[in-house]
This record gives sequence, C-alpha cells and structure tokens, in this order.
Amino acid sequence: MIQADHTTALMLAGALLDPVIAVSATDPRGDHAAYDEELAAIPGAVSKRLREFSAGRVAARQAMAELGAPPLAVPMGSDRAPIWPAPLVGTITHCDTACLAAVAWTGEVRMLALDIEEDTPLTDDLLDTVCTSAERRWLDTQPDPGQAAKAIFSAKECAYKAQYPLSQTLFDFQTLEVELGDDHKQFVARFTRSVPPFAQGDQIPGKIARGDGLIVTSVAVRA
Ligand SMILES: CC(C)(COP(=O)(O)OP(=O)(O)OC[C@H]1O[C@@H](n2cnc3c(N)ncnc32)[C@H](O)[C@@H]1OP(=O)(O)O)[C@@H](O)C(=O)NCCC(=O)NCCS
Repeated sequence: MIQADHTTALMLAGALLDPVIAVSATDPRGDHAAYDEELAAIPGAVSKRLREFSAGRVAARQAMAELGAPPLAVPMGSDRAPIWPAPLVGTITHCDTACLAAVAWTGEVRMLALDIEEDTPLTDDLLDTVCTSAERRWLDTQPDPGQAAKAIFSAKECAYKAQYPLSQTLFDFQTLEVELGDDHKQFVARFTRSVPPFAQGDQIPGKIARGDGLIVTSVAVRA
C-alpha cells in the first residue's frame, strides 16, 4: 500500500475541520527547526523522534500564522502533552510520512484534536486492549472488521487527546466506547465511567476521513 504524504494528510484533515480552525502539515522525514526551549524536552532523542517532534512544532507555527497568531513556542509538558500559548487550543499528530497540527482560539473552540494513522487493519493482538466487548460484538457484524477496528482505535486516540486538557487524566482504551456512523465518516466516543469534568455517558463527537493509505480522525467542539 502506498502511504500518502503530508499534502494528502492536509487535504483529509482540512475537509474535516471547521474554517475557524487553522490546520497545517509538514513532512516528518524532512529537517524542521523547533525552538531550543521546545527541544529541551527531548534531550538525546533519536533522529526520527527529533524530526517528527520538530515537524510538529513547525506545523503548529504554520497553523498559528494562518490563524493570525504570533509564532510562539509550544513546549512539551512533563505529561508529554503540548502546552499551547493562551488563548489557543491546539493539537499535533504524526505518522511516518505526515505530520499535522491544528490550532484555534479558545473563545471559538473548546476541544480540538487530530489523529493520523496508516490505514492498515488493526491487528488481532490489539483488539482486546483497544476495544470493549460491545465494540468487538459490533466489529463481528462488519464486512471489514480490521479496517473498522482501526477507525475505532484512531477515534479513541483522538478523543483522548481532545479531552486531556480538560481532565488532565490518563486512562485506558476501555474508558471510551466508540460508535461509528453508518458511513464510518463520523463517530461518537462515550465515557464508560466518570472522568471529571466528564460524567459517565458523556459523548465526544468526531469525524473520520480516509484516503491514499491514511486515516485521519478529528474532534472539534465549539466553545
Ligand atoms: C497521546 C497519545 C494518545 C498520542 O497518540 P499517538 O497516535 O501515539 O501519536 P500522535 O502522533 O497521534 O500524537 C502525538 C502527539 O500528541 C500530543 N500529545 C501527547 N500527549 C498528549 C496528551 N496527553 N493530550 C493531548 N495531546 C498529547 C503531542 O503533541 C504528541 O506529539 P509530540 O510528542 O511530537 O509533541 C499517546 O501517546 C498516549 O499517550 N496514549 C496513552 C493513553 C491512551 O492512548 N489511552 C487510550 C485512550 S482511549
């Protein structure tokens, strides 16, 4: 399977996001210059990690420029989450061939996240970790369970990243249960237990785009 590059990733992500959100893409295989204060969080990183990390920061600043925000640093917190300069909300994701970043003003967007993955079937050994028993029962009814499971995986990673700035809580895959829409272009991720400020049953809505060997999921909840 040919894995598309960052221009395809940008097209997929751009189609998912509201115009109040600025999105940009970079190639994580190239050289990009992150700020020293950002690089301080990854001392001794191997070259691949250095490249993807820097690609993310440069994509973030491209998106900030598009939004009309100054090109500020996006340091990494001790929990590894990016620290977005106020009043911005943002997200970074990468796979081997593409890096995406999106930003918006917090006055317009409350929760924002992107996830990008190679669009290969989720392997069977990950099914029990990633999926709840209800999700696995639903997957058994699908014509391509591996592909549907990959969408569930990406949707959970995306919803996790979207909720994190509000909950500051790390949790496992069983804490969210995903339902894909009939056309697999939308999803809702429902909390199976309370994770304050989210209550059990609260839902995070998201979107899914696939193309040229990539899957991109997004969560963008207006303020
Ligand atoms: C954060 C996480 C979801 C990233 O997923 P991933 O698919 O491996 O990687 P992605 O390329 O999509 O995203 C990585 C980027 O997410 C961002 N990120 C990291 N931790 C984050 C967090 N807690 N909240 C929001 N964004 C986060 C960072 O910008 C990171 O890139 P960087 O290190 O270069 O800055 C994953 O690393 C993680 O911590 N998982 C543990 C928790 C989990 O998955 N639980 C199941 C949820 S249902």
